[in-house]
Amino acid sequence: MHKRKMGPLSGLLVLLAAQSALAADCAPEQVQKGEALFGSDCSVCHSAKQGGPAMMGPNLHGLYGRKSGSLAGFSYSQAMKAKAVEWQLDSLEQFIAQPQSFVAGTYMPYAGMADADGRRAVGCFLGAQK
Ligand code: HEC
Repeated sequence: MHKRKMGPLSGLLVLLAAQSALAADCAPEQVQKGEALFGSDCSVCHSAKQGGPAMMGPNLHGLYGRKSGSLAGFSYSQAMKAKAVEWQLDSLEQFIAQPQSFVAGTYMPYAGMADADGRRAVGCFLGAQK
């Protein structure tokens, strides 16, 4: 049997592939488009800035990786806390497509964003708020 060892070069290639997969998910233009959409659709109720205020909705800075309904000091619906989903691009997109069907009973009074590209763009914008 002939085994191939993974040399340093193939390790680097794996790393590059992983990074370009991330980059492919969110092009700079998507982040830009997402910023505009966030401004028109979300920012009346949400800040995405670090240390930004809770408004009608919770601060969305550093959203990815945190559990729904988990920001200390914000008064969430029971539904949002019970959902206990980890926010990621994917779950965020599902939520803003139809908030009431993803989290039945949520307090978020937003009807939903029909355009999938728009949802991805908003998700990209939120992911870029580092
Ligand atoms: C009219 C106000 C309003 C608008 C507009 C709005 N939201 Fe919300 N949002 C809320 C409220 C209120 C909650 C808390 C919901 C709950 O507890 O059920 C919330 C919760 C969330 C959460 C869950 C956060 C957490 O900490 O678990 C996310 C993510 C979110 N909103 C994203 C968005 C995005 C993205 C948009 C724009 C596409 C948007 N929201 C538009 C009011 C709003």
